Amino acid sequence: MVTIKENSPFTPGNPVPIELFVGRVEQFKEIVRHVKQTEYGKQENVFLSGERGIGKSSLASYLRYYVEKEDFLAVHVFLGGVTTLEEFVRRIFEQILKEANKQTMFDKISGYFGKYIKQVDLFGISVSFNPPEADLKDLVINFPESIKNILDLIKDDKKGLFIILDDINGISNSPEFANWYKSFVDHVATHYTQFPLFLMPIGLPEIRDNLSRQQPSLMRIFRVIEIDKLSDKEVSEFIKKAFDKVNIEVEPESMDYMVLFSSGLPVLMHEIGDAVYWKNEDEVISQDDVMPGIIYAAERIGQKYLDPKVYRTIRSERYKSILRKLGEMPGSHFRKKDFESELNNEEKRTFDNFLTKMKQLGVIQSDIEGGRGAYKFVNELFPIYITMESRAQRRKLKE
Ligand SMILES: Nc1ncnc2c1ncn2[C@@H]1O[C@H](COP(=O)(O)OP(=O)(O)O)[C@@H](O)[C@H]1O
Ligand SMILES: [Mg+2]
Repeated sequence: MVTIKENSPFTPGNPVPIELFVGRVEQFKEIVRHVKQTEYGKQENVFLSGERGIGKSSLASYLRYYVEKEDFLAVHVFLGGVTTLEEFVRRIFEQILKEANKQTMFDKISGYFGKYIKQVDLFGISVSFNPPEADLKDLVINFPESIKNILDLIKDDKKGLFIILDDINGISNSPEFANWYKSFVDHVATHYTQFPLFLMPIGLPEIRDNLSRQQPSLMRIFRVIEIDKLSDKEVSEFIKKAFDKVNIEVEPESMDYMVLFSSGLPVLMHEIGDAVYWKNEDEVISQDDVMPGIIYAAERIGQKYLDPKVYRTIRSERYKSILRKLGEMPGSHFRKKDFESELNNEEKRTFDNFLTKMKQLGVIQSDIEGGRGAYKFVNELFPIYITMESRAQRRKLKE
């Protein structure tokens, strides 16, 4: 029988659908506790921090879904690439309008925004908000009042407003941002007793440090919540749920491999799951589906992360030859001493610099458990890709 494949349940690169969301139990509970505080009129600020691909947007999107059911007007604003406060506030208000529009609260709110709202399509389902620059500047300055107006307009229908500021990495480089945020919070605290607004900026850990340098008191405002790797149990729960969704069974050994190579990283479990899904031809994921899938996933991950920042940026021939030798070494851990014996004298001399560089690039890290001089790759897929690259280059060198 020929089985026709449905769509893959995996979503590498996009926030995970609600029904496949796993883990983050503690962080979820803690954030919800703060959301409850806003119900009583207290303006709350949670900074959600974590590395790229660790699952910040997914957690945010899961929270939005939950908070919406709890009768908040909940909006997820994507701010990637935004560098000015004007565009920043424009996107916030546009997203509020879009959400209000979906929930038929549009008429209540839209009047407040005046003539700069456009109904983008024939049926008025999608809206855009594009006021001239001067008005945007006013919105930046009068942000507290504008939000207060919206809070008043929705107060009979909603407990409050929940805004996710997804990815403030760009805007946080602008020196005004930290001060603007601080003034906003201060203004609210001194002018209003009821301000049921929950704000959740999201950014990389280093953004948090930048902000606290620019405006030290900002960090007293934020409750910082950090997310890190998933446990193997959570990864396995996810993989099972995802394959269950398309009625495919996973053999225990296959599961072990997929969990191992995922290294607790959400982005890897999706890449691996997806690759294995497309390699598989029947209703069972067995060992012979898994290995080709993992290799394929390693290739994709390598092309996305290692090619641009490692292979295409390293100019030094010596670094290149060390990297090639690293690829010939089995496994994902190594000791400096052992590997050094594989190197010639010139390579040995630059080896320390090489290790520092690879750490900076996020390819390897110190292996604390292995003791001094022990290193490991940051995940299990990188060494596979580096091995594939070494082989390919050796072949080329021979030709
Ligand atoms: N809790 C989770 N459960 C299942 N998949 C997740 C979870 N968190 C993240 N993912 C998946 O991992 C990848 C990266 O997640 P994302 O939320 O975009 O990370 P970030 O915003 O931190 O860069 C996406 O493919 C997403 O679907
Ligand atoms: Mg994200």
